[in-house]
Amino acid sequence: MTLNVSNFRQEVSKFKLSNNAFNELLAAQDKLAPDSLTHRIDVTPALLDSQCSGALLEELGTVRNMIDHERHVLLIDGFKVDTLARFKSLIWTFGSLLGVPMVQNHLGHHMIEVYDRGGKSIEEGARYHQTKQGAYVHNDGVSDPVPIDYLILACGQKALLGGESILIDASAVYVELTAFPEILEVLKGDFLFENRGMAEEEQLFRAPILSFSDEGIPQIRYFRVYIESAHLKAGQPLTALQVQALDFLDTALDQSSVQHRILLEPGQVLVSADNKFLHTRTQFIEQHAPRAEISDSDCLATLNRYMLRMWLRKPS
Ligand SMILES: [Fe+2]
Repeated sequence: MTLNVSNFRQEVSKFKLSNNAFNELLAAQDKLAPDSLTHRIDVTPALLDSQCSGALLEELGTVRNMIDHERHVLLIDGFKVDTLARFKSLIWTFGSLLGVPMVQNHLGHHMIEVYDRGGKSIEEGARYHQTKQGAYVHNDGVSDPVPIDYLILACGQKALLGGESILIDASAVYVELTAFPEILEVLKGDFLFENRGMAEEEQLFRAPILSFSDEGIPQIRYFRVYIESAHLKAGQPLTALQVQALDFLDTALDQSSVQHRILLEPGQVLVSADNKFLHTRTQFIEQHAPRAEISDSDCLATLNRYMLRMWLRKPS
């Protein structure tokens, strides 16, 4: 079942699994157990029961098709639970059935907790998901040369105030910039990127910011702070033309005409085609002082803003 909901000036499609499909998801979740040594749930992908009706399989196919070919982003409702442990296992089950989970850090984790640890800033080397900083429009697939097919952002708890997700379709940005072909040419050229947080050993790689899929759909790879940092580390400062192109891109990204805004509620899951959509979040104020560590036995209602993130590749 799909329907359109109004959010700010734009619309994001909303989807909810049928009761049959959701029950199959719960059955798959019940079979999962955390790893006995690490206590992490994101070690073994979930499996569907061979006796199930196929409702979940069919609806996951619908979700993939909408993201691949139609809307490129989808808001899926209905994942509200009480405890952090239950939320983690439910989102892991859903994500690992939707696609093949990718490693997201040097520790080999496949599911990442997004909340403010109260520590370093992005400029001081922290990764975005460990801070409460907003304002940097980016896509997640900037630290690995191979793009992410599906980005999952699942809301366990929202902030006291603010923390909206801003979603930006790369196609709309491309249209805004077609009036400036010389800028587009620079963005199609190579920039340096870094594998921040992905491996013990730092590696830089070259890739364009703007490229196109086989179907001709604009694709993006962008996180300005990471690009600037990579160029600095390589001793190859951005050229004046590259800086100008990034300024044009940032200005286009700042236009309300290209932005969708959504305040994710607890239990809502955003799925997007990461290389066709950029995102950021607005500033937020928390209910409690930040904590570096939280426990799986915590109730979600007692936490500050808390999201789970997964990066998926399409199943073969
Ligand atoms: Fe992100």
